[in-house]
Amino acid sequence: MESQQVRHVAPSEHRRYVQEVLVAKGVSKENAAVISHCLLQADLRGVDTHGANRIPSYIERIRNNILDPAAHPELKQVTPVVAQVDGKNGFGFVAANLGMQRAIEMAQEFGIGMVSVKHSNHYGMAAWIVQKAIDAGMMALVFTNSSPAQPAWGGREKRMGVSPIACGAPGHIESRPFILDMAPSVVARGKIYKALRRGETIPSGWALDKEGKPTTDPARALEGVMLPMAGPKGSALSIMMDVFSGVFSGSAFAGHVGGPYDFTKPADVGHFFVAIKPDLFMSISDFRSRMQYLYDRVTTGERMEGVDQIYFPGEIELINKEKRMAEGIPFTEAEIATMNKEAEAVGVPLMKFNQKNSV
Ligand SMILES: NC(=O)c1ccc[n+]([C@@H]2O[C@H](COP(=O)([O-])OP(=O)(O)OC[C@H]3O[C@@H](n4cnc5c(N)ncnc54)[C@H](O)[C@@H]3O)[C@@H](O)[C@H]2O)c1
Repeated sequence: MESQQVRHVAPSEHRRYVQEVLVAKGVSKENAAVISHCLLQADLRGVDTHGANRIPSYIERIRNNILDPAAHPELKQVTPVVAQVDGKNGFGFVAANLGMQRAIEMAQEFGIGMVSVKHSNHYGMAAWIVQKAIDAGMMALVFTNSSPAQPAWGGREKRMGVSPIACGAPGHIESRPFILDMAPSVVARGKIYKALRRGETIPSGWALDKEGKPTTDPARALEGVMLPMAGPKGSALSIMMDVFSGVFSGSAFAGHVGGPYDFTKPADVGHFFVAIKPDLFMSISDFRSRMQYLYDRVTTGERMEGVDQIYFPGEIELINKEKRMAEGIPFTEAEIATMNKEAEAVGVPLMKFNQKNSV
């Protein structure tokens, strides 16, 4: 089995590694800075499934000429509050960053901004896009579609993506906004890839094997399907992501988006973003006070047995971020070795980590 020894990587070193590897593969410095920010946010928030560990698969797409590292997305204004981005088959992070930036600008001027993105790629953890809107003082809806991984409820064939539904709003204090970011499957498929990398089993109930039987083996689960959360309801949410992000944008849909680990064709992912000014119907201070009241009501109720604390959506990830900013980001030695193969291949310094053993 590969080394499970955990090491810590400083956020600045994480950023350097990602940027240098990407620039060496033809990504502009400006775009590499956007991508490294997004991957760092995922690893800081504890969404380890969507951080720097994804670099080898992104690089493999560049090697196979199915993702254009040098692409710059194009923006078209459709109405004063609607814009469209063509991702030009470049990194999804870059197209999404431009899309949400434009949505924010329109919302600042008109109260709302809506952007559809086509011909894009995987943008990793959706929460970074929500956080971008919140940092600009906006509420946000952030949708994407993704490659087929789960059946429509009642089926056993991959037809729908485990496409995350994400949204958020500023809180009373900056460090505690509302951020929902969830895959419509029982868990994100990245958690199965992570278990496979780490030689771990998965709980029964996450996925079915290709014969349609429950499995705890991540390799068999990846050949089969992810189970939608709450049966037909999770299935309907993934169809909703496909309607708004795939059908509406002009990108692939209905099970035709290319998978992040399918190196034979471009992904052609679609996204859909809305930014909304929170003080459209009251003053910003009233809005923020009401958010604080909601936070207090949600987090201070009587707890069920075995629960120490009730969290607001996104709060656990923000606590992780505070901890990891101070302590560094934990990776197994095997994960660092895999990432460093890419650094070695392009001749940039390997990712350095804290030598001291840690759990
Ligand atoms: N780009 C893609 O195609 C793609 C596809 C699938 C998933 N993803 C990403 O994978 C990530 C993981 O998704 P997931 O569904 O496994 O997330 P998750 O189950 O870890 O969390 C889902 C949501 O529940 C909240 N939450 C979790 N535990 C909580 C608790 N105890 N109390 C209160 N709230 C709690 C989280 O803050 C989050 O908003 C997401 O960032 C998602 O964007 C991306």
